[in-house]
Amino acid sequence: MLEIVGVTAGYGDGGRGGRDVTTVIEDVTMRVAAGEIVGLAGESGCGKTTLARVVTGLHRPSAGVVRVAGVDVHALRGRALRAHRRQVQMVFQDPYLTLSPRQTVGQALTEPLRIHRVGDARSRSARVRELLDLVGLDLQVGARRPGQLSGGQRQRVAIARALALEPRLLICDEPVTALDVSVQATVLNLLCDLRDRLEFGCLFITHDLAVLSQLADRIAVMRGGRIVEQGPTGDVTTHPSHPYTRTLLAATPTMDIAMSADGPED
Ligand SMILES: Nc1ncnc2c1ncn2[C@@H]1O[C@H](COP(=O)(O)OP(=O)(O)OP(=O)(O)O)[C@@H](O)[C@H]1O
Ligand SMILES: [Mg+2]
Repeated sequence: MLEIVGVTAGYGDGGRGGRDVTTVIEDVTMRVAAGEIVGLAGESGCGKTTLARVVTGLHRPSAGVVRVAGVDVHALRGRALRAHRRQVQMVFQDPYLTLSPRQTVGQALTEPLRIHRVGDARSRSARVRELLDLVGLDLQVGARRPGQLSGGQRQRVAIARALALEPRLLICDEPVTALDVSVQATVLNLLCDLRDRLEFGCLFITHDLAVLSQLADRIAVMRGGRIVEQGPTGDVTTHPSHPYTRTLLAATPTMDIAMSADGPED
């Protein structure tokens, strides 16, 4: 689904390509299969969001290739690029990066369908009801604005919006970092459940290895813009091969979040 091969990227030219003044990520190679959740862990500033921006096509790498469903993301232009962007959606730490405070939830969920000219008014409102149901929100929530929701509900809306166009790949950049631990658990459960039902691939970015140990099929550990270790979650968390992974694990507070505790009450 997603192949990242030898990607190097940095800043200094406004992201327009060519020679970057500072290299932020270097020679990154990773894969995410359909229906797989791959965690990307690493400390603040190591380059996680930069990699996410390269994968979505927002930032051009100075070397390497990103393929989604076999297509080189950075070789696309114009209409082909816009069509392709439907396949890759993002969920951010701050839901307000995708939700306008002035729009109702219903409007926010309709917008991607309208922009990509999917269906008519009737089928769109049916789809909005379906999306609310998918993320465990009551239909009445559709009439509210983001400011009238709890943090957990807002993040559910952001997830529903990201899934509106049935993407093949979901990139989650610290989506639960701003939430209380108990609410984190319900949102993580929701993501697992949705992945099982919809079979999108997911690149889940976090500095918190405890979150990944409960959620990810595989984990990649990034340090200073390089992947220092990657493998199945059980291997990486119980038999880390790189000293930096051991340091990260030692610094991770044990988080007792019960993955079975679920429910829309957040
Ligand atoms: N637009 C930009 N222009 C120049 N430098 C940038 C830009 N965005 C990020 N950087 C630098 O690139 C490096 C990596 O940033 P990035 O946002 O990818 O880190 P991160 O791993 O996502 O960190 P965090 O966990 O804090 O979100 C940092 O040193 C940052 O200062
Ligand atoms: Mg970041």
